[in-house]
Amino acid sequence: MTASKSTEALPGDNTNTWSGRFDEPVSELVQRYTASVGFDKRLAEYDIQGSLAHARMLAAGGIIGHHDLAAIERGLSQIRQEIQGGEFVWQLALEDVHLNIEKRLTALIGDAGKRLHTARSRNDQVATDIRLYLRASIDRIIDLIHVMQNALLHLAEQHLDTVMPGFTHLQVAQPIVFGHHLMAYFEMLKRDVERLSDCRKRVNKLPLGAAALAGTSYPVDRAMVARELGFEGVCENSLDAVSDRDFAIEFCAAAALIMTHLSRLSEELILWMSPSFGFIDLADRFCTGSSIMPQKKNPDVPELVRGKTGRVNGHLVALLTLMKAQPLAYNKDNQEDKEPLFDAVDTVTDTLRIYADMLAGIRVKHAAMREATTRGYATATDLADYLTKKGLPFREAHEAVAQAVRFAEKNNRDLSALTLPELQQFSPLIEDDIFTVLTLEGSLNSRNHIGGTAPVQVAAAIRRAREWLLRNR
Ligand code: ARG
Repeated sequence: MTASKSTEALPGDNTNTWSGRFDEPVSELVQRYTASVGFDKRLAEYDIQGSLAHARMLAAGGIIGHHDLAAIERGLSQIRQEIQGGEFVWQLALEDVHLNIEKRLTALIGDAGKRLHTARSRNDQVATDIRLYLRASIDRIIDLIHVMQNALLHLAEQHLDTVMPGFTHLQVAQPIVFGHHLMAYFEMLKRDVERLSDCRKRVNKLPLGAAALAGTSYPVDRAMVARELGFEGVCENSLDAVSDRDFAIEFCAAAALIMTHLSRLSEELILWMSPSFGFIDLADRFCTGSSIMPQKKNPDVPELVRGKTGRVNGHLVALLTLMKAQPLAYNKDNQEDKEPLFDAVDTVTDTLRIYADMLAGIRVKHAAMREATTRGYATATDLADYLTKKGLPFREAHEAVAQAVRFAEKNNRDLSALTLPELQQFSPLIEDDIFTVLTLEGSLNSRNHIGGTAPVQVAAAIRRAREWLLRNR
C-alpha cells in the first residue's frame, strides 16, 4: 500500500487512516495479527451510540457544524441498519470496528464523516465501547440470576419437608430438608448480584474526552456526553481513563464466582443423579446417552458447567496478566482484553439461561433421600444434645453417643431402632422421651432459629428471599 493523500475515501477503499506516515504496507500476516475486527465488531452498536453522543456534543459546542451532525446521524443510522441486516462489509485491512465504521461513514457522507473523530482517539473510544457493552451485559446477567433464583425458590418451596442427609466431608452428617440445601444457593446468587451491581458502578464512568491520553485542546463537554450515554460520571484522569481495565477484571472475578457457585451445584446434581446416591433425576433434555453402554444417562450439562468454570477462571487470570506490566497509558496489549471478556460474558449468560430450566426439570426421589438419612446415624448429634440438656457435659455426651453408634452399627440398626434398655446402657439419663428426639422430623424441627433447617425456618427464608427479589428487581 503506498501512501495516499486522497481526501475523498471511496467505498471499500481500505487505505489505512495513518498511511501518510508510512513507506510500506504491513504484511498480510501482521495485518491479521494486529486486527481485532474479527471479534470487536460485536461492539458496533455501542460504537455507534458513543459516536452519536460525541458528535452531538461537538455540535452543541460549535466544534462541528449542525449540518455535519445531521449528516453523521443519518450516516450512522444507515450503518446501523446495514450491520443489523448483515450487509455491512467488514474489512480486515481496516483493523477494528472503529475504523470500519468511520471509513464507511466517510464513504456515505463525505467530509462530515472525517470530522467525527475530532477531539477523540480510538483509545477513549474503545474504552467507552467496552464499558457500554459490559454495562448492558451486567444488566442482562443480573436479570438471568433473578430468573434462576426464582427457579430455586419454586423448587425449595416444594421441598420444605423433603428430608435428605446434610453432608460434611461428603459423609452423612445431620438431617436437613432439601429446600434448605437449595436456599444455600439462593444466598450465593444473592451475593453474586450484589457484586455485579457494585462492579457496575465503576463500569459506568465515561472515558471519552481523554482522547489519546492527555485530554484534548477542544472545548469538550464531557458531562453532556456522560448524560447522553447514561454514565454516572466521567473518568477523572485522562491517563487512567484510556488505560484502566480494572472494571473488566472485576467483572471477570464476579463471573468466576458465579461459575464457581454453579459448578458446585452441578457437582451435587451429578453426584445425586449417580445411581449410588439416586436422589434425583434430571430431565432427559439435559443428558445424553453413551455410544457403547446402553444403560447410561449422563448429566452432560452440569458436567459442562463444571468444565466451563475453568475457562472463566482462566479469563480472570488472563486479564490480570494482561495488565500487570503495562506502563501508562494505552498500549496495544489492551486489545487482548476483549476475547476473554466476551467469552466470560457469553459463558455465564448461557450457563444461567440453561440452569433455570434444568432446575425446573429436576425429579426428586424422596424415598432415597430419606433412606440415606436414616442409614448414616444422622441424629447422633441430637442424642448428644439431649444428654447435654440433661446435665451431662457435652464431651461426655459425645463419648456416650459414639459408643451407642458403635453398638447400633454392629447390630446393623439405626439409633432410633434401639430399645430403651439398650440405649440406657450408654447413659442412665436416657428416658423414653428420647424417641421423638431421634426421629428425623424431631431433629429437623429442633433447629428452629434463623438460618436453621427447621421447615418453618426454611419457609421464612423463602419469604425473605421473595422480598429481596422484589426489592432488587
Ligand atoms: N482495536 C484497538 C483496541 O481494541 C482500538 C484502540 C487502538 N488504539 C491505538 N492507539 N492503536 O484496543
